[in-house]
Amino acid sequence: MKNFFPRSFGTDYTIIRRAEGVYLYDEQDRPILDGSSGAAVVSLGHGHPRVIERIRAQASAVAFTHSFAFVTRPVLELSERLAARYGDPRARVLFASGGSEATETALKLARIWHLARGLPGKHRVVSRATSYHGATLGALAMTGLLPRRRDFEPLLQPFPRAATPYCYRCPFGREPNDCALECAADVERTILEQGSQNVAAVIVEPVIGASAPGVHAPHDYMQRLAASCREHDVLLIADEVMSGAGRTGRFFAMEHWGVQPDMVVLSKSLSSGYAPLAAVIVSGRIADGLQQAGVRFAHGFTYGGNPLSAAVGLEVLDVLEEEKLIDRAEAMGKRLLLALDTLREIPMVGDVRGLGLLLGVEFVADRESRRPFPPVLGVAERVRVAALAEGLSVYPGTGAANGVAGDHLLIAPPFVIDESQVNELVDRLRRAIRRVERELPSDAFSPSRDS
Ligand SMILES: Cc1ncc(COP(=O)(O)O)c(C=O)c1O
Repeated sequence: MKNFFPRSFGTDYTIIRRAEGVYLYDEQDRPILDGSSGAAVVSLGHGHPRVIERIRAQASAVAFTHSFAFVTRPVLELSERLAARYGDPRARVLFASGGSEATETALKLARIWHLARGLPGKHRVVSRATSYHGATLGALAMTGLLPRRRDFEPLLQPFPRAATPYCYRCPFGREPNDCALECAADVERTILEQGSQNVAAVIVEPVIGASAPGVHAPHDYMQRLAASCREHDVLLIADEVMSGAGRTGRFFAMEHWGVQPDMVVLSKSLSSGYAPLAAVIVSGRIADGLQQAGVRFAHGFTYGGNPLSAAVGLEVLDVLEEEKLIDRAEAMGKRLLLALDTLREIPMVGDVRGLGLLLGVEFVADRESRRPFPPVLGVAERVRVAALAEGLSVYPGTGAANGVAGDHLLIAPPFVIDESQVNELVDRLRRAIRRVERELPSDAFSPSRDS
């Protein structure tokens, strides 16, 4: 590993030799249940024979063309399929290789849309305090998650942030039974505070991923948000990089609230990890407007819209539809949420939530006050390591409680998980959490320890 630049120098990386279904296998051929599909990527499961065959066939036909002068049938067909899913025959679709490239593309599109209408001031993007929209500088400027931003603050545009609809830690001190949706009002307040003449777009994860897995809006929030955007001539961007392409039991998570955003960003489950692929679906209103204004979008990525990734996307869509895997994600998600709920018997499990197979478990030092563990203890990472020892992979995260503290896990297995594997996942996770609870210093649970 001496020449490999790791994501974290402190981590002991497991070399994976092969994968099949919901399991990864290390070099000793030990199975590891992929309880988070990497980072909510692998929708169809590993090693799907149809996707592998499609890759072989497309690579034999043509693996790469550049977008300056060429396009291929898979790219055209995938654009049509996604526009149809979005429900707007005039919608257009841009492609990229990953989520950050795609959210950044949406940001630039919002800017040029307003520019083309003679509104050059409208360039700021409102996002929410608890959010992750990607690692590149534009995407990071829209991101709230502090641990990812901290070292790069001087490089980032000072975009505004609104409150998050995070019911377990309501920013307005409410409980669900006395909710007055101040979080929805806060988006409008933020737009007005900035001056709507300066705001291009609002970007939201309909179901939150890395920064607070599984957190999603209460009733009516999305409708209120969409209405505020319309009223103030602000575009609504749904970042469905993690929640889209079926993971929450709907093709678009926004369908749960019946809201159609102006742009939708997809990635992860769309290719199920078989090729780097992301898409930005742009409404017909915006696409037509840009076309009529004669705008040339000075933007593009070498690998955006490559035929190999598009062919993978098409095969994934076919399999999702033919094997009814989105319904399965919904059904298995309900089962998994119920099973995860039993983890609440462990005192350090504070919250369990999510939609479909985009679920989260949050840890607390004290359940009554919902006080998080001191960050120095690295509780989520400890649980990840303990789970791996049990043969389970889960994705840890921090910072949800106050930007710094707050430990949680993303639980997002492939859609093909079955009932017995759901039980296996939860049994292994229970053992891992119990082990960490035993091994934590006893003062970890004391109110006086807060650093
Ligand atoms: C909601 C959301 N947006 C954007 C991204 C960035 O995607 P990528 O890591 O593919 O650049 C992620 C990644 O986790 C994400 O969850």
